[in-house]
Amino acid sequence: MNMGTKLAKAFNEQINREYYSAFLYLAMSAWLNEQDLPGAAKWMYVQYQEELVHAQGLVKYLMLRGDKVDLMPIEAPKKEWTSPLNAFEEALEHERQVTKWIDDLAKMAEEEGDRAARLFLDWYILEQVEEEANGEENVVLWGRAGDAPSGIMMLDVHYGQRGFSPDEIPHLD
Ligand SMILES: [Fe+2]
Ligand SMILES: [Fe+2]
Repeated sequence: MNMGTKLAKAFNEQINREYYSAFLYLAMSAWLNEQDLPGAAKWMYVQYQEELVHAQGLVKYLMLRGDKVDLMPIEAPKKEWTSPLNAFEEALEHERQVTKWIDDLAKMAEEEGDRAARLFLDWYILEQVEEEANGEENVVLWGRAGDAPSGIMMLDVHYGQRGFSPDEIPHLD
């Protein structure tokens, strides 16, 4: 039950963006680690792992539908930020862009009359709500810590508590 070339192409583009997101968060994790913020680095590493799951979900869906998986080169992310707050601000900005891309993909599925693809994307639409909420909280908290070493240290310990439990994307297994 193929999706057809137009929708399959758009899914493949989103796979590339999810892998780019993974790269971006991995780069942020490495940079935060260099800044002696192992907790924030861990948080970003978990985010990197989540993005891999997002990409894998779309790959599996293309396979399920019998559409072609077209893996494309992943753009190199930036490697440095001016402060932890700056990195978290850019992460939020990036997630807002991802929300727009997911919405566009859902609109295309609607226009193509592909109800199955549209329903599959529900999980991604809801995931973006969570991503933006987390991103907004990050910006508030790192903004509040400001340049105060004790505040940054406490926040870093808090961020280091994030663990990775892979999301189960429905309808794939
Ligand atoms: Fe994602
Ligand atoms: Fe998430």
